[in-house]
Amino acid sequence: MVKKRINILGVTGSIGQSTVKVILSAPEKFDVHVISAHTQRDELLDLQKKLGATHAICTHDDDGAARLNDVLQESVDLTVSAITGFAGLRPLLTAIQFSKAVGIANKEPLVAAGPLVIKTCRAHSTKILPIDSEHNAIFQVFNEKQRAGIERIILTASGGPFREWSIEQMREATPEQAVAHPNWSMGQKISVDSASMMNKALEVIEAHYLFDMPSDKIDVLVHPQSVVHSMVEYADGSVLSQMGASDMCTPIAYALGWPDRIATPGERLDLASMSALSFEALDDKKFPAVRLAKACIEKGLSACIALNAANEIAVDAFLNRQIGFLDIIDCVQHSLDGLDSGSKNIDKELHLEDIEALDMDIRANATKYIKITH
Ligand SMILES: NC(=O)c1ccc[n+]([C@@H]2O[C@H](COP(=O)([O-])OP(=O)(O)OC[C@H]3O[C@@H](n4cnc5c(N)ncnc54)[C@H](OP(=O)(O)O)[C@@H]3O)[C@@H](O)[C@H]2O)c1
Repeated sequence: MVKKRINILGVTGSIGQSTVKVILSAPEKFDVHVISAHTQRDELLDLQKKLGATHAICTHDDDGAARLNDVLQESVDLTVSAITGFAGLRPLLTAIQFSKAVGIANKEPLVAAGPLVIKTCRAHSTKILPIDSEHNAIFQVFNEKQRAGIERIILTASGGPFREWSIEQMREATPEQAVAHPNWSMGQKISVDSASMMNKALEVIEAHYLFDMPSDKIDVLVHPQSVVHSMVEYADGSVLSQMGASDMCTPIAYALGWPDRIATPGERLDLASMSALSFEALDDKKFPAVRLAKACIEKGLSACIALNAANEIAVDAFLNRQIGFLDIIDCVQHSLDGLDSGSKNIDKELHLEDIEALDMDIRANATKYIKITH
């Protein structure tokens, strides 16, 4: 059997660890080439031994980013992109040029630079395999040949830890309460995003770029059990969904095995043991993030960059106890309000440097806003 040559960016994180688990359950299928981490050096070296990876790079080192860029310029079958945040954009763009396929968990680069990521993939004939569970679900049931008959895609949301909390309770929420997700075990940033519904907001933009769907054809439905991972509704009334346990090993195995299916060591769905599957509309008053994201799609890429950058700064400030939980959305809203309407139209220009410059600008302004208001 020919082994698949794989890179794993962000190997020490939650998605990285699940990827390692799937690979180690079928080591005869994979040959690990590059793995990267940011700060967890010992963990990285340990993983290099376990996986037999050729290169292990710590990007927090002085020359780490440059060394990663070098080693990514060797051909592989698949790169798993699992760095958290906008920081994953540059490595992803390099990996796209030298990988037959990219398994993208790292949603922020798609939100802030979706058109550039898609364009780069097209230029290098690189296949995108979504790993974010909702987008992986949609990918599995989205029949491109029947695109004209697709009425909408429906992203499901667990509702996060604050689904039943009042706005007053959320105002007092601590970082510990925000990261305590009821269904999924994930990194800190995405856990806070899930609590604020910003995760779903980012996913709406991610879906817009990945599946080329307008914002009015992307809906969100709260589904607390996280069994139905998302759906596609067709003109004849058929609604196709993908179901599975709340375990990222399934979408990761889908990407690692594609176009075949491989077994995973992860959890299995046991429908008979479940009493009910429920669905409810999103409470827009408590969770305005999805509405903000849809407005950003209408405004264009600059707004999507601003939403993502301000959110990254605000989540960091919340985790460091500088601001309250509701201040996260307030900071994002402030950054969107302040977007200079005369600023360069990034949708048309689409240079990485312009995207990075606007991202940095928004971060600086959001940091200033937090300092002034707290
Ligand atoms: N976790 C999930 O279940 C899940 C589900 C769907 C999508 N996602 C998406 O997948 C991505 C990763 O999420 P996660 O939960 O796995 O995050 P995580 O547990 O926080 O792990 C993040 C990884 O990225 C590395 N990293 C952090 N900052 C970096 C930087 N500035 N430059 C380079 N590498 C950096 C970390 O390295 P060190 O640990 O060594 O510092 C770690 O390996 C996010 O975009 C998230 O939205 C996650």
